Amino acid sequence: MSVRRALLDAAYYVPRQFFGTAVAQLPKIKLTFTDNYQRGMLLVENRVKYAQRLDTAQLSSALRRYVVERSYLSDDENYYCFELFDSRLERRLEFRSLDELLSYNAQVGDLELFIDKFTVIPLHHTLIVGQTGSGKTYGVYSFLLQMLIKPVQYQLYLADPKGSSLSILGDMIAPDCTAEDVDDIVALLREFNDVMDKRKADLKAKLATKLEASYSDFGFNPYVFIFDEYASFQSVVQAMDKKHRDEVNKLISQIVLQGRQLGFFLFIVMQKSDSTSLPTMIRDNLPLKIVLGNAEQQTYVTAFGTGVEIPSRDFRKGEGVYTFPGIANTPKLCAFSYLNFDINAAFRAKRGLCNNPRSSKGA
Ligand SMILES: Nc1ncnc2c1ncn2[C@@H]1O[C@H](COP(=O)(O)OP(=O)(O)OP(=O)(O)O)[C@@H](O)[C@H]1O
Ligand SMILES: [Mg+2]
Repeated sequence: MSVRRALLDAAYYVPRQFFGTAVAQLPKIKLTFTDNYQRGMLLVENRVKYAQRLDTAQLSSALRRYVVERSYLSDDENYYCFELFDSRLERRLEFRSLDELLSYNAQVGDLELFIDKFTVIPLHHTLIVGQTGSGKTYGVYSFLLQMLIKPVQYQLYLADPKGSSLSILGDMIAPDCTAEDVDDIVALLREFNDVMDKRKADLKAKLATKLEASYSDFGFNPYVFIFDEYASFQSVVQAMDKKHRDEVNKLISQIVLQGRQLGFFLFIVMQKSDSTSLPTMIRDNLPLKIVLGNAEQQTYVTAFGTGVEIPSRDFRKGEGVYTFPGIANTPKLCAFSYLNFDINAAFRAKRGLCNNPRSSKGA
């Protein structure tokens, strides 16, 4: 009922005459709930006659405790769809020990990562953007811990040009595949590409028997290159001569373009994803995009494109929105876990589990 009143207030109706009296013909509405009334879907008929667009702001007061998570036009354009969730609901997970995280992780596939109670994403190239302190690196910790406790062995490569917390963890879990210096990072990227090329040759032979398959179908394990503070790396690269710049761009684009089938993934973390620090071609090929915290409009536009509606909320640390083809075609809310235990000790406990020594080092 309150939704109908909101539509009336928003003048979202067709005026008609009924026996000489003016009446408002309201659009058809369908409201359904799932998950014990925690989530819902509101469909409002869209007709050309309703000249104006219906937007979230006009409905929010009518929805009371429900918040619009996503709104979009249905494929046939007959309905405006509003995905709702109960705002009292906590989507963020809290783990009080590594064991708790381990048992939660058991519900998630070997090649999937979870972000919160409602968000599980297949392993893929990833972009994490957000202002300083928004929880990007902390979000990476929870991805890394998941990768370390999977039954499948993840080969991890870590680049941290500012030499902050990620490189300290890297020295614990993958000392031979952690780099801070730009030159060392480039060497690491080269090595990642070399291993990928080798996988390409191995996979090619197998693909002859089964087209359309990918690395996991043949029991190959995933390789993940995590790049924190990517913009600061790029600013050094931009100052290099053309030959070096081209090489770095080629290394990055090869991973992004060929990695998926081969099982080689790139995670890029940065404060802003403008095209000077992240070429558009690379950005467009990172399927999972996460923007954390209360970002500027421009940050949302560079990450998700123009014309997308961001759920209006005051984001706390680790909270934000993401897109992933097929799962969230327009930005959806997400919140990284609260790791309420000694994170360092947890990584120390997993030390040496993930990487074989680098062949080129120490030789
Ligand atoms: N999901 C979360 N749950 C609880 N606390 C969090 C979460 N994310 C971040 N924090 C807190 O916020 C602090 C800052 O987060 P973090 O270092 O990840 O920010 P950042 O986005 O990487 O910033 P910078 O760009 O400066 O590196 C963390 O040290 C942690 O205390
Ligand atoms: Mg950080």
